[in-house]
Amino acid sequence: MQIQGKTVLVTGGSRGLGRATAIALAAEGAAGVALLARDEGALTAVAREVELCGARAVAIRTDVRDNEAVIGAFEQARQTFGSLDLVINNAGVGPHKPFHELSSDEADGILDVNVRGVMNVMRAAVADMNGRGGIIVNVASALGKIPLGGYSVYTASKSAVVALSRVARKELRNTGVKLLCFCPGMIDTAFQDDRRDELKQIPGWILRPPERVAADLLLIIRQERAESFGQAYLAILHFFYRLLAG
Ligand SMILES: NC(=O)c1ccc[n+]([C@@H]2O[C@H](COP(=O)([O-])OP(=O)(O)OC[C@H]3O[C@@H](n4cnc5c(N)ncnc54)[C@H](OP(=O)(O)O)[C@@H]3O)[C@@H](O)[C@H]2O)c1
Repeated sequence: MQIQGKTVLVTGGSRGLGRATAIALAAEGAAGVALLARDEGALTAVAREVELCGARAVAIRTDVRDNEAVIGAFEQARQTFGSLDLVINNAGVGPHKPFHELSSDEADGILDVNVRGVMNVMRAAVADMNGRGGIIVNVASALGKIPLGGYSVYTASKSAVVALSRVARKELRNTGVKLLCFCPGMIDTAFQDDRRDELKQIPGWILRPPERVAADLLLIIRQERAESFGQAYLAILHFFYRLLAG
């Protein structure tokens, strides 16, 4: 898909990868960007940055865990832009804790955003695009395919997003809706704030700025790649992980 002239909805658009992607899409010629997240002040600031890049922007305060709120946000985006061509299903949370240190509520909280929230957004996007066509990009994680430990329930949630994307891609084959799944490596965002000390030794090509990862995401959209890490070293790591894991 070419970005020029397209209308886009980005969840988790208030900071990090969502913000960087929204700005990159606007700079690439997107006509309109709807930004969804809970922090209204941050969303409004990102909307201004998107507008400075030449696109229309609307900030819609939404908790993706709330299905009715997601449906309402899609309706508001449609009223603003007419229709949506592209949805970046990006909102996610991930405390870096082993399974035995996570309380039941914390574990539910991760699954609520990363799985139920992703499904709420997918459902609303498919309802909007069915018959007309469009692209949904589910943002999973490299950990969803290479479960290396430390992120327990987060990893499980991202594996669920990878599996769900694979199945939905097949189920949507005749609807004109394409489902892509992006599995990035480490991104230097607020997501990593609970382990800053540990990360001091990680080189910049592994822990990358969100702008670099957003550039990978735009390439994946242009090339309509079904499932991608965006970085070659992760594809190689995945090959050896599968080889050794049997
Ligand atoms: N950072 C990494 O190393 C990394 C690696 C691989 C994959 N990822 C994935 O990339 C995506 C973006 O992460 P990031 O690194 O940009 O993290 P981030 O900086 O913490 O941003 C997360 C975004 O999700 C939004 N969000 C969280 N809970 C939400 C909810 N209930 N409803 C609506 N929005 C919600 C946040 O906005 P509000 O708080 O304003 O709601 C924020 O905009 C996530 O899916 C993450 O799992 C990250």
